[in-house]
Amino acid sequence: MSVLRLPDAVQFGRGARAGIPVAVARLGRRAFVVADPVVAGMTEFAAALDGLKAAGVEAHVFTGVVPELPLDGIDAAVSAARDVRPDVVVGFGGGSALDLAKLVALLLVHPGPLSAYYGENAVPGPVLPVVAVPTTAGTGSEVTPVAVVSDPDRELKVGVSDAALVPRVAIVDPELTVGVPPSVTAASGIDALAHAVESYTAIERPPSWDAQLPIFVGHNRLSSVLALEAAHALGDALPRAVADGADLAAREQCAYGSLLAGMAFGSGGTHLAHALQYPIGALTHTPHGVGTGMMLPYVMAAIRPACAPRLSALGAALGAPATPDAAIDRVAEIRAAVGIPATLAEIGITRDQLPRIAELALGVTRLAGNSPRPATRELLLAILEAALTGDVSALT
Ligand SMILES: NC(=O)c1ccc[n+]([C@@H]2O[C@H](COP(=O)([O-])OP(=O)(O)OC[C@H]3O[C@@H](n4cnc5c(N)ncnc54)[C@H](O)[C@@H]3O)[C@@H](O)[C@H]2O)c1
Ligand SMILES: [Fe+2]
Repeated sequence: MSVLRLPDAVQFGRGARAGIPVAVARLGRRAFVVADPVVAGMTEFAAALDGLKAAGVEAHVFTGVVPELPLDGIDAAVSAARDVRPDVVVGFGGGSALDLAKLVALLLVHPGPLSAYYGENAVPGPVLPVVAVPTTAGTGSEVTPVAVVSDPDRELKVGVSDAALVPRVAIVDPELTVGVPPSVTAASGIDALAHAVESYTAIERPPSWDAQLPIFVGHNRLSSVLALEAAHALGDALPRAVADGADLAAREQCAYGSLLAGMAFGSGGTHLAHALQYPIGALTHTPHGVGTGMMLPYVMAAIRPACAPRLSALGAALGAPATPDAAIDRVAEIRAAVGIPATLAEIGITRDQLPRIAELALGVTRLAGNSPRPATRELLLAILEAALTGDVSALT
């Protein structure tokens, strides 16, 4: 079952932001612009607003984006947007801003509460068109059918996954990522690598074309091409972009890699590193990419019996020997080079918390069910135990 879900247009390259006014004006005259507060202070953002005005678009800017999207911040954005009655929503910022833009576009058309749409395929129909302009590299949210929120009533982050959430236009300009601080470059970049690795190693399912397709269909030919190319670009460039944020060639490779990884996991899906990050992120209040990046080598070691040839292909894509061990080691090296913690202990998790984390991760069935090796409680506990102490060899 090979599937891709993509925006109508994906515009990538240095200076691509100059295309924002034309893209937005094609979709309407009133725009609600959800902008990350740091990014809203950038001259590039002011220039985009000038461009919108010159193109005859009335733009209303909302900058109350809180990282990792706590639910209460979403209500404020939706009520501000209701007053504006926009034709189009623009997201300008990191994954948090883009996800908020997608949720505003959803809740302006369909009634709340947002929890009615948690899970997969629960959105009843089209949402407002979204133009997504990422400033991190990145979540890939500019091309994915996913938005993730932190709901204080739940012990784990929750997602809305529906084809209706794919932005209409993605405008990816690596120059917008030059000012991203090293810690955010590291966390969002290794998350992109996790998207590539997990979509490529996801379970392969027998076709079921006549039913409603799951959002994450698993490993497939179309997304695989993108995932391998994403791993290649990110493996090479991410450590360089963290070491020197002004290295525009490295920034460009990271933006390219995270974009392709987003296209890949938008149909292939992610699996265990993401399922485990949901409770880990909620418990420790660490950024999404810290959790997924930390867990990735352990997850790769755990799934090895089910997909050794694919791990070997990833090793080659990452510039290492084409073996599973080399792929796992290379990802751990990248993680160390960019300063992502290597153990759960380092972010404050204790052994007594592991059973609850495993139980919650198992409950994220669209991710746990996408693992190439059946996600049992025992497997998740073994992964967590190895990650607590940093002993990846315990899994191999
Ligand atoms: N929708 C999806 O498909 C998807 C996929 C993965 C993750 N996510 C979600 O995305 C969120 C994380 O997104 P993120 O990693 O992009 O981080 P983010 O959007 O939370 O931003 C992190 C920090 O970086 C700052 N920042 C952003 N761009 C900047 C720039 N150009 N210059 C300087 N500072 C900048 C922000 O102000 C913020 O303080 C999480 O909520 C995660 O769950 C969504
Ligand atoms: Fe992610």
